[in-house]
Amino acid sequence: NTVSLIGAPTDVGASVRGAGMGPDALRVAGLAEALRSHRLDVVDRGNLAGPPNPWQPSGNGIRHLPEVVAWNRAVFDAVAQELTLGNVPLLMGGDHCVAIGSISAIARHCRTQGRKLRVVWLDAHTDVNTESISPSGNIHGMPVACLLGHGPAELVGWSGERAAIAPEDIEFIGIRSVDADEKQAIRMLGLQVFDMRHIDEHGMRYTMTEVLQDLGEDTHLHVSFDLDCLDPMEAPGVGTGVRGGPTYREMQLCMEMIADSGRLGSLDVVEINPALDVRNRTAELAVEFVQSLFGASTLAR
Ligand code: ARG
Ligand code: MN
Ligand code: MN
Repeated sequence: NTVSLIGAPTDVGASVRGAGMGPDALRVAGLAEALRSHRLDVVDRGNLAGPPNPWQPSGNGIRHLPEVVAWNRAVFDAVAQELTLGNVPLLMGGDHCVAIGSISAIARHCRTQGRKLRVVWLDAHTDVNTESISPSGNIHGMPVACLLGHGPAELVGWSGERAAIAPEDIEFIGIRSVDADEKQAIRMLGLQVFDMRHIDEHGMRYTMTEVLQDLGEDTHLHVSFDLDCLDPMEAPGVGTGVRGGPTYREMQLCMEMIADSGRLGSLDVVEINPALDVRNRTAELAVEFVQSLFGASTLAR
């Protein structure tokens, strides 16, 4: 299998500027070379194009909707193309709004192939706000809602069905920041959220056995990795960091256990903000975790 790197250099969905430099930060950190060192074939498709960030205040509960639509259209097409070629798309964000396009394309592909899709959402946030409940209007806080069929009409239904995924098809790990109305949405939708308290009490190992326990034989596993999932002490280069995240070791184990499932089919790496980073540490960290996700291990060759 070939891993296809796709850059989506935008921060139109974010609250803080700078995530648009994420794809190049990952390239500078040696993402392609690192994967090749594990005998994977890698192609870098370069960066997608899209509108600049107009940096407008939130109008009626949502910021930059036309720009977010344009970026996601480009992401959707690029990810769909790689899936058609049989490649593993690795989308380099960009802020987390780009997951709308990538996961919609993956859901459509899985449906046409008759395969089940499972999404693992690694994040400090659940990103399940809608335009009617978001306190910020930033669309990077809304991708999960859109994928479940609940966002603004322009961002819903891209997979060919109103909902790209059902609530039971997504699991959240590392959560520690949920807005007031978002909590109610999580309860109403019945989402499976493994928050930091769960990881504190049960440990990452047990949490991941729960996450991966009922993965079917031909399930396509998609990982949406928001770098703010990590503790900001490890990963300072993010726009919406929240303290109290998983440690480096816990996150490594999480990635290794996903790799062991043998089901990884696609990946988003989002929210790296080089303008806030310390000597590209966060992108370098992301490269280490992505290697583990693709099966690098200390002793096995
Ligand atoms: N919940 C907050 C909001 O909706 C923060 C979202 C942060 N999302 C992210 N992908 N970093 O504005
Ligand atoms: Mn986040
Ligand atoms: Mn996120």
